[in-house]
Amino acid sequence: MCGIVGYTGNRDATPILLSGLARLEYRGYDSSGIALIDKGQLMVRKRQGKVDELRSSLEKSGANGFIGLGHTRWATHGAPSELNAHPHVDNAGRIALIHNGIVENHYEIREFLLGQGYHFNTDTDTEVLAQLVGHYFHDHLAEALQKAVSLVEGAYSIAVVAPEDPSTIVATRDRAPLVIGVGQGEYFVASDVAAFIEYTNKVIHLDDREIAVLTPEGVQTFTPDQRLLHKKIQTIDWDLEKIEKGGFDHFMLKEIYEQPQALENAMLGRINSECDKINEIDGVLPYLKNASRVYITACGTSWHAALIGEYILEQIARVPVEVEYASEFRYRDPIIDKKTVVVAISQSGETADTLAAIRLAKERGATVVGIVNVVGSSIARASDQVIHINAGPEIGVASTKAFTSQVMVLALLARALGLHNRALDARQAGNLAQAIEAIPEMVRAVLATAGQIKEIARDFLYLGRGLNFPVALEGALKLKELSYIHAEGYPAAEMKHGPIALIDKDMPVVCIAPRDNTYDKILSNIQEVKSRGGQIIALTSEGDNEINRLADHIIHVPETVPALYPILAAIPLQLLAYHIAVAKGLDVDQPRNLAKCVTVE
Ligand code: AGP
Repeated sequence: MCGIVGYTGNRDATPILLSGLARLEYRGYDSSGIALIDKGQLMVRKRQGKVDELRSSLEKSGANGFIGLGHTRWATHGAPSELNAHPHVDNAGRIALIHNGIVENHYEIREFLLGQGYHFNTDTDTEVLAQLVGHYFHDHLAEALQKAVSLVEGAYSIAVVAPEDPSTIVATRDRAPLVIGVGQGEYFVASDVAAFIEYTNKVIHLDDREIAVLTPEGVQTFTPDQRLLHKKIQTIDWDLEKIEKGGFDHFMLKEIYEQPQALENAMLGRINSECDKINEIDGVLPYLKNASRVYITACGTSWHAALIGEYILEQIARVPVEVEYASEFRYRDPIIDKKTVVVAISQSGETADTLAAIRLAKERGATVVGIVNVVGSSIARASDQVIHINAGPEIGVASTKAFTSQVMVLALLARALGLHNRALDARQAGNLAQAIEAIPEMVRAVLATAGQIKEIARDFLYLGRGLNFPVALEGALKLKELSYIHAEGYPAAEMKHGPIALIDKDMPVVCIAPRDNTYDKILSNIQEVKSRGGQIIALTSEGDNEINRLADHIIHVPETVPALYPILAAIPLQLLAYHIAVAKGLDVDQPRNLAKCVTVE
């Protein structure tokens, strides 16, 4: 939930840390701070608010040093404030520490340290970590960190510096993201590559509980019991241009308009009709074909994709599927055996609840299939099989291209599985392949006609049936998280069981109404809304005249097979939420209270 970055090398660390923090703000932005070691002295500067507050403070009274740590926070323990911001320092001022995650047993450790005579200035769990490392720091920083985290329960990524060891950063992680950047005579540690991609695209992925020691001379990695590791240096093909806004006003709008390309990337090597040549999917098919049960688990927008996946896999591949929120799955004692398959969907690959669900599934012998966007992410590495959606970096907190790419991958998986278990014959699979290949162009068409939606209204109702009920949920979530307007997604048939009481002239109702087998039913729902004075925004197929009489606003969506319609229907709903939020002058890419990656439980 927070962004951490560290640098050690031969250049002024301050601008490098500040630019890294700016690129990590999507992970949390209620306060930020940096720690530098300058001529053997530790300097810490923290500010509440966004990284720009910290930047202007540092510009006024400069700070130098070739090594430092930076942190941008999303508060979990302790209110957003300058005092609670990271880095935190031990009582003796011998170490500075930054942390992402939660120390679940911070109270017990605090009691232990109070008994040892330490005092605390904040009520954060991170300060407990800093005091604990200080407690064990005699003359070996890595050893002190390793001893400290051996007592910690919870997910964390941590980096520490100490003036007594003035060019060394020590870092470790357990179930929270941390990646090492390998430069020329300079090294980086960060929550993700966005923080240092402009300096290097060479990375080392640290695995859980491993320790990294970075100096300008190089980086060493160790197992928890201090055995030296020789980890591979990987090259990331994301460059800064992909991360920048590309000329759009917001990352979110850029990512909405990147969807045709993202969907083409998701299809690469996956339309094949030979089941053993379907990129990353062929390895999954035998598990799914012989599965005793198939669960799909995820959070938020990824859970909406999972709901669509349930319809698609059952309708196309005739495989029974059960969808559960990851935050529920992990506590409901699910029935899992060695033939169970658990599919985990996650854009970031770091969502704590989804990770925890995966761990439970693996403990009980299930095969875990990760459908993720971020290569090398924790969920990718915790899964037995991984299918990457290849959507490229998604910086806007509100997920857009990842959602449609997730649905695309699920459709490709359903087609491959239908071929593999003979639920689809060659002709059906060929027709579906053609429909899939037509989608990116259809998305371009929807983007071209979606226009600008300017009206602002209080409360929205989103209605859909079948595969488009999860799209109604997704449309409602987009509006809520971007414009802070209350919105609800409902199965259209449920409206008469209560929500219809909300309908009046000030209640816009978005109806997803493709000309499929539920069309006549949703027309009746639209009539019900109209007769109570509600405003109708209808998404419907081109050339549909019947609905023109009823709807106040029509957004045409090209016709395609039912399984793929959610991809097309999601686009206008993304734009609706985006334009309303922009019209309200809100922070589209970093909505209040949210973070891009929820790595706390
Ligand atoms: C979606 O717009 C939100 N940002 C949020 O619901 C998100 O989908 C959820 O936190 C899951 O994230 P993940 O896909 O990275 O696991």
